[in-house]
Order: sequence, then C-alpha cells, then structure tokens
Amino acid sequence: MNCFQTWPEPIVRVQTLSDSGITAIPERYIKLLQDRPTLSPNTPHNADLISIPTIDLSDLQSDDISVRCNVLGQISSACREWGFFQVVNHGVNHALMKSMREVWREFFELPIEEKQAYANSPATYEGYGSRLGVEKGAKLDWSDYFFLNYLPMSVRDENKWPRLPSSCRELVAEYGDELVRLCEKLMKVFSLNLGLEEDYLQKAFGGEDIDACLRVNFYPKCPQPDLTLGLSPHSDPGGMTLLLPDDQVSGLQVRHGDHWVTVKPIPNAFIVNIGDQIQVLSNATYKSVEHRVIVNSVKERVSLAFFYNPNGNIPIQPAQKLVTEDHPALYQAMTYNDYRMFIRKRGLHGKSQVESLKSPH
Ligand code: OGA
Ligand code: NI
Repeated sequence: MNCFQTWPEPIVRVQTLSDSGITAIPERYIKLLQDRPTLSPNTPHNADLISIPTIDLSDLQSDDISVRCNVLGQISSACREWGFFQVVNHGVNHALMKSMREVWREFFELPIEEKQAYANSPATYEGYGSRLGVEKGAKLDWSDYFFLNYLPMSVRDENKWPRLPSSCRELVAEYGDELVRLCEKLMKVFSLNLGLEEDYLQKAFGGEDIDACLRVNFYPKCPQPDLTLGLSPHSDPGGMTLLLPDDQVSGLQVRHGDHWVTVKPIPNAFIVNIGDQIQVLSNATYKSVEHRVIVNSVKERVSLAFFYNPNGNIPIQPAQKLVTEDHPALYQAMTYNDYRMFIRKRGLHGKSQVESLKSPH
C-alpha cells in the first residue's frame, strides 16, 4: 500500500531537537490539555503509594509445593489485576542486561550520520525511527527508537542491526535468546494459571515459529515535560513484553483504575506485561493494560522493549476452554499480521484496537 512507503512528513529526530537547546517544544509535540501528564512531585497522591507487584521467579523451582503454588497465585493476580509485574531471579544474566543498556546508550550517542544510515520507513519499521503511525498532522511523541526483527530467522537480518558499537549485534543475539527462554517459561505459567494445558499458549502462538522483535526507546531531555509524552497511552499489540527499563530514570506509567501509576524499577528486574493477543486468547481473563511514558528536563532515558508475539499467520481467538455460556467469546479471530496493520497506520491510540475486535452480540 502506498501510504506505507514513506512518512507523511519530513522526519525530525527528537534527540536533535533536544540537543539544539530549544526552550519551547514545537507545537507538534504539545498534547491536548486532557492528554498531558500531571507532573506534581510535591503533591502526595494515593497513586504514589501503590505499585505493580514484584515476583521472585526462583520460587517456581522451589522443592516446596506451597512455595510453588504461592508464586503461581501471585502471577495469576498480577495478570488479572494489573496486566503488569516486575520479575527478579528470572535467570537472565545481569551483566548482559547491563551491557545491553550501555551499548544502546552508546548507539544513541553516536553522530547523527551514523544513525541516519538506519533510517526506517513505515513499510517495516525496521531501523532508526522517530514516529509511529502515518497519519499526516498527528501529534508526535517525545522519543526516538531503534526497531529490529529477532524471530523468525527468515526475517532476521543482522545487517539491519547497528554496526556500532562493535559489540551490539552479538549482544542483541545473546540477549534475545535468553529472553525467548524466559518468555517460554512465562507462557507455561500463564497457560497453567488459566486452566489450560501447559503448552496451550505456546502452541497457539505457533510453537517454535513465534515472532519476536526489539524496540529500543530513547527519550531525550525535554524542556517542557509537562506538555508532552515520551510515548502516548497504548496497550502492546503482541503477546507479551519484557521491558528492561532505564536503571537511573523512571518514566513508565501504568493505568490502574483512574490513576497513572509510575513504575519504580527494581535493580536487575524485568517489567513483564500482557499484550492484546493474550487478552484475546484468555477471553479477557487477562488484560493488556494501557501504559505511557513521561519525560523530564534533567536526564535522557533508554528502555529496551522485547516483544514476544504469535506467528503472524495464525488466527488468534479465545481458547475454547475459556468460552462458556456465561462467558461467550469476546473476540473474533484475527491473525497478528492483520492486527498490527492498525497501529502501523494510526499510531498509538490507547486500547481502541483490541476493543474494535469485540464480537458483535
Ligand atoms: C513500549 C513501551 C515503555 C518504556 O515500547 O511499548 O511501552 O518505558 N515502552 O519505554
Ligand atoms: Ni508498550
């Protein structure tokens, strides 16, 4: 389709804008009044006292059955009530996590010409980008990113991954393999917790033939952080996301009822969240929860979002076992390839996409 060949307007790198020393942000980044964040660090607020659950995954290997049951229960509640949780003792090498943060920070610090060599297009989104969606005149978010395909192997092209820093490609491959293993473990836990066969979700995703990709988000310093967002409210369209947040700067906010709860990252933890496809498969027992990112005027922020998705060609629909007379199927079947077209066209719009899948009654 034509609209996916090029961006509708010239691309401006947010990092370049930020580095130029402007004191007022361009109109395009200024959100409507009702969409702006409320940054009031001095006003104590209920939302500051609550946080997403933290779960110790080493408990899954405990010899004590009550410990194992307990951690399954914690994950179950987190998936139902928050759609988000942090995991510690997850088995991913801490030094590798640290190196990934460092190498991607270094990438974004490279001269602009080096990064421009990877400038992306809306056809695949692969590479260095500064917007989501191709709607002309749309409000933009205060962030740049690097997007790469990890799986299936047939779409992996390491030549499209950064050449510099020189360790980048090797690190990404090692990191991706470890994260795939962690996702496989969580898929089993989610299946069991939903009352399904242990391998149900994995099979529904295509078995070994899943899709995975990495988006590294770069949020430059912003002179007017109260007027804009680093990332607009959205739910993740895929299966599940493992987010490695910045270890110095917070920014992620998760919707909980009427509040936006700021996540305080725990050292060496991953933030796990349920995406739209697991919401559909679970017939909405699990929710893919809306989240957004706020920015600040003091320090840039880097985060790594690893998306674990169904194979793009398999229709995704509620598990038969979770469809009953009392709980009819809430969604119509759709492949992930068809599903993600929506975001590629329109950018981030809260939860409007998964809502639009609702079966007519
Ligand atoms: C995302 C996302 C959050 C963050 O990339 O989908 O929600 O903290 N990122 O950068
Ligand atoms: Ni997200």
